[in-house]
Amino acid sequence: MNIRRSFLVGCGAYLPQRIVDNDELAELVDTSNDWIVKRTGIMQRHIAAEEELTSDLAINAAQKALAKASLSVDEIDLIVVATTTPDDTFPSTATKVQAALGVNKGAAFDIQAVCAGFVYALTVADNFIKTGQSNNALVIGAETFTRILDWSDRSTCVLFGDGAGAVVLSGGEITEKTKNYGILSTHLHSDGRQRDILYVDGGPSSTGTVGNVRMSGKEVYKHAVAKLGEVIEEALNYNKLSASDIDWLVPHQANRRIIDSMARKMHLPIEKVICCIEKHANTSAASVPLALSVGMDDGRISNGDLVLFEAIGGGLAWGAGLVRIGEPV
Ligand code: UT7
Repeated sequence: MNIRRSFLVGCGAYLPQRIVDNDELAELVDTSNDWIVKRTGIMQRHIAAEEELTSDLAINAAQKALAKASLSVDEIDLIVVATTTPDDTFPSTATKVQAALGVNKGAAFDIQAVCAGFVYALTVADNFIKTGQSNNALVIGAETFTRILDWSDRSTCVLFGDGAGAVVLSGGEITEKTKNYGILSTHLHSDGRQRDILYVDGGPSSTGTVGNVRMSGKEVYKHAVAKLGEVIEEALNYNKLSASDIDWLVPHQANRRIIDSMARKMHLPIEKVICCIEKHANTSAASVPLALSVGMDDGRISNGDLVLFEAIGGGLAWGAGLVRIGEPV
């Protein structure tokens, strides 16, 4: 039997037009540009227009990723959308994306792992491809996360933004030529005992409301630094690689200090880290593919580069993935 792998052949992103800087937020809550920049690295965030839905952001990002992959919609047979802010309770945002793109075959569904959502969705799609159930997958992280913020809570409302990122995965056989390309491995974890340090105080079954984000920032920070460090090591060990083999770290963009701390732990020069938190803030499930797209669009990340993804969020849920971008030429 031939062994299959997923190759990452396209990436795209979309950000809503409206930019809100820290000074604007300081008019809303008792905060300052100085505090936000020093504690998080965030300088601004994009916020979706009233009529703009998560699916709109996802569709835009998916179209860009498809164009980069030079694949037509007819070839897509799986759409996985990672989101915590779906358009509706049901049907899935993925099915809305499917219809809008004109994809008429295969499956489309959402994945919910909050900020780790993209790494979870990538893993699910990769497994569909590896088993031969799908051939070409769109994996999208999309959020209108600012819709679930409590705009009177300065400890959370300054941290997040809206956006979407998408990648196209294409299945192929592992051959001598392709063996170092594609998704080498992904590693997922969750710990439901930590639910209360990052959650939303509402939901269709519990309160019948959407709810707002609640977070014990310091607790989450502590877990993030420890668990991301562990899962990075797990991914490297699994592939018998060391940090010096990595071309790019594309981390979840939650806090500049957490990103710097991961780079220090890995002894990775900061120039090898894609950081765009200053412009996008934390876009939850969109943050990793958005950062990947930034790195690819500005020419830093190119075909053949080895990229390490990592993310952590509510659940707690976290994970990492090692991917060599593109396909051998
Ligand atoms: O994506 C999911 C994963 N999320 C994360 O990884 C987030 C992890 N946590 C963090 O990034 C940080 O904990 C935060 C950025 C959320 C907070 O930074 P911190 O250094 O842990 O600050 P803190 O929560 O300990 O607050 C320090 C002080 C407090 O005042 P007192 O008690 O020292 O007087 C807060 O009330 O800063 C105050 N504070 C603020 N001040 C101005 C909290 N939020 C703000 C604010 N502006 N927006």
